[in-house]
Amino acid sequence: MGLYAAWTLKHKPKSLTEVVGNKDAIQKFVDWVKSWEKGIPKKKAVFLYGPPGIGKTVSVEALANDLRMEFVEKNASDYRTEDAVHHFAGLASQYGSLFGGRRIVLLDELDGLTGTADKGGVKAITDVIKSAQCPIVLIANNAYDPRFSELRNYCLLIEFKKPPAGEVMKHLKRICEREGIQAEENALKFIAQRSEGDVRSAVNDLQALAQGKEKLTYEDVSWLGYRDRQDTIFNVLRMIIYGRTCMGAKQAVDMADVDIDMLFEWIYENVPAHLTDPHDLVRAMNALAMADVYRGRIRSTQDWSFTRYVIDYMTAGVAMARKNTKPGGWIPFKFPTRIQALSRSKAERAMQLKIGYKIKQKCHISANRASKEILPYLKIIFRNNAETAAGLAKWLDLDLEMVEYLTGNKER
Ligand SMILES: Nc1ncnc2c1ncn2[C@@H]1O[C@H](COP(=O)(O)OP(=O)(O)OP(=O)(O)O)[C@@H](O)[C@H]1O
Ligand SMILES: [Mg+2]
Repeated sequence: MGLYAAWTLKHKPKSLTEVVGNKDAIQKFVDWVKSWEKGIPKKKAVFLYGPPGIGKTVSVEALANDLRMEFVEKNASDYRTEDAVHHFAGLASQYGSLFGGRRIVLLDELDGLTGTADKGGVKAITDVIKSAQCPIVLIANNAYDPRFSELRNYCLLIEFKKPPAGEVMKHLKRICEREGIQAEENALKFIAQRSEGDVRSAVNDLQALAQGKEKLTYEDVSWLGYRDRQDTIFNVLRMIIYGRTCMGAKQAVDMADVDIDMLFEWIYENVPAHLTDPHDLVRAMNALAMADVYRGRIRSTQDWSFTRYVIDYMTAGVAMARKNTKPGGWIPFKFPTRIQALSRSKAERAMQLKIGYKIKQKCHISANRASKEILPYLKIIFRNNAETAAGLAKWLDLDLEMVEYLTGNKER
C-alpha cells in the first residue's frame, strides 16, 4: 500500500474478534449462518441495518473469513439489470461452490437502489431469496424504508447500533499499537467521543492526527472542537479546492462549522498538496495572500465589511487557480498545523506563567512580569551553565518539568 493508504483499509478487521461493539447482533448473525449446517433455515436471508461506519459490511467480510466461506459481494449497481440478477440468482442457488467451499452472498448498500431499476430490483432480490440455497446477507442503513416492506418478510432483521466510545477506543488503541504510536488514553477517548459512534470517521481522524508520530498526546487532539466534524470541513475544502465555479466555492463558506480564520488555516494548509501544478499553486497562494491582506486590514481597522473580500479570495480565488493540475489519486486533507502550533504555545504560556509564580515568590515582582522579563535570562543560563542552573533550580524550587522546559532538552 502506498504512502496514503487509508487506515480504514489497512487496519480493517480480518476476524470478527477484531470488530468492536454490537456483540449481540454479531452473535445472532453468526448463529444464523451456522444454522445452515443443519439444513436450510426458515429465513434464508438476514437484513443488517444501522447507521454508517459502524462495521456492518466489515462484519460480513470478517465472518466469511473466520468460517472460511466463499464470499460473493454485490453492490446495488451490480443487480440493476435483469442479466445481473440472473447471474446472481445462479450463484445463490447453490450452497457450495465447485471447489467444495460453502458460500455466502452479500448484497450491500441496498439504499443505493434508486431510479427506475428500483422496484424491479427489490422484487428480483425477493425472488432470489425465495429460491436461495445459501445464506444471503442484505445491508442498508434503513431497513424500514417502505420499498423493503415485502422483502422484510423473508429476512431475519438484525440491528447494528453505534458502538459506545469505549469500544471505539479499543479499535483506535489496536491501530496505534500496530503503527508504533504511543497514544495517551484521553487523546484516544477524545477522538472516540467526537466520532459519536462512527468508527470509520474515528479512524480517519486518528490517521489525520497521528500518522507519522511516535506519540499522540491529549494536547495534539483537544484543539479540535466538537463542532468541526471532519466530514463537514472536508466537504467544504473539496468544494473550494476542487470547485469549478466561483459561486459554488463561495457557498462552501456557509456550510463550514468553523469561523473564517480557521477556514483560512485549513485552506492554506491543504492547497499545496492538492494543487500540484506550480502555476496553479502560485495563483492559489496569491489569492490567499490577498485574503490575508484583507484579514490584516480588518484587524487593524475593525471594519468587518472587508470580510467579503477575504471570502472571495480564499474561496473563489483558490477555486479558479486550478487550471493545469491533473486529478491525482486520493490525497487526504490535513489538519492545519499552524493552529496546532498555536495551541501548543498556549501550553507553553501556561508553563511560563508557572515558572513566573516561582520567581515571584523570591523576587517580589508579578508572575506575569517575571515570565516576560526574567524567564528569557533563565533560559540562557539553563542552556549554558549547568552548575548555576542547578543552584537556581533549587533556590526557585523548580520541578523537573520546569527545568526541562528551561533547558529545552531532557538529557540535561
Ligand atoms: N465495529 C468496527 N470495528 C472495527 N473497525 C470498524 C468498525 N466499524 C467500522 N470500522 C472501520 O471502518 C471501515 C468502514 O466500516 P464498514 O464498511 O463496515 O461500515 P458500514 O457499517 O458498512 O457503513 P456504511 O453504512 O457506510 O456502508 C472499516 O473498513 C473499518 O476500518
Ligand atoms: Mg457498508
